[in-house]
Amino acid sequence: MESTAVKGLVREYWKKSAVRYNKAHQSEREHGSWKELLKTILGPAGGLKVLDVGTGTGVIALALAAAGQQVTALDLTAEMVEKAKANAERRGLVVDFRIGDAEKLPFADNTFDVVISKWLLWTLPTPEKAVSEWQRVLRRGGRLIIIDGNWWDFRKSWAKRVWYHLLAMPLVLITERRYAWNSYGHLVQHLPMLSRKRPEADVELLEHFGFVGVEAQTVDIPIAQTFISWLKYGYQGGQFLVKGVKA
Ligand SMILES: C[S@@+](CC[C@H](N)C(=O)[O-])C[C@H]1O[C@@H](n2cnc3c(N)ncnc32)[C@H](O)[C@@H]1O
Repeated sequence: MESTAVKGLVREYWKKSAVRYNKAHQSEREHGSWKELLKTILGPAGGLKVLDVGTGTGVIALALAAAGQQVTALDLTAEMVEKAKANAERRGLVVDFRIGDAEKLPFADNTFDVVISKWLLWTLPTPEKAVSEWQRVLRRGGRLIIIDGNWWDFRKSWAKRVWYHLLAMPLVLITERRYAWNSYGHLVQHLPMLSRKRPEADVELLEHFGFVGVEAQTVDIPIAQTFISWLKYGYQGGQFLVKGVKA
């Protein structure tokens, strides 16, 4: 399948998921946790020019703006960006939201101090293209931060798959009225990061594009904020963060 066609289907998925995703990720606790983590990584001072790629409903963009950073946030799906804009307004935060493709950015070279993407790389058909674009728009000495997880990891244990089928799938079906297994099933083979060993593959990718000081760490913030969402998604495990500096 062509990369444009894959992106069309990915967009369709997130268009349908915008309301549910927004409800699941707007708690004060989640906002506060990301704000604290980002302060630890970027330092307490504000004023950095930061690009949040694949911003979705704005979880990271808003945490950054609340910490005093100058934020631009881009996403492929208009419905997700609409939610993000409403969330920014509700919190009284200023973010420059754009609709666009993380693999083909509408920004000049050397524009940003920091590029950050959370839970995006796994759903891109050409992650190499994306990282090369993120490197291009970063200034020299700028930092790239990737936060992601091993979602739908097909190397997971049998026990975890059973857990998913027996408990998580019926719960998703009842509470979200969708059949979770098939929601990305037809796309999996077109999304390379889903079959790579991560975060090792991310470290390799950053080093391939000349980033220096590349490091991976685990992120302690839970992917599911409520007990019911932990039952539905908790089996997927934890998330990691990979960072590097543009040489
Ligand atoms: C799991 S959500 C993550 C949203 C947000 N970063 C967060 O952490 O809550 C994935 C997001 O990636 C966006 N996305 C998928 N492909 C994209 C692309 N090629 N360019 C930009 N955004 C994309 C989707 O529209 C969706 O909003």
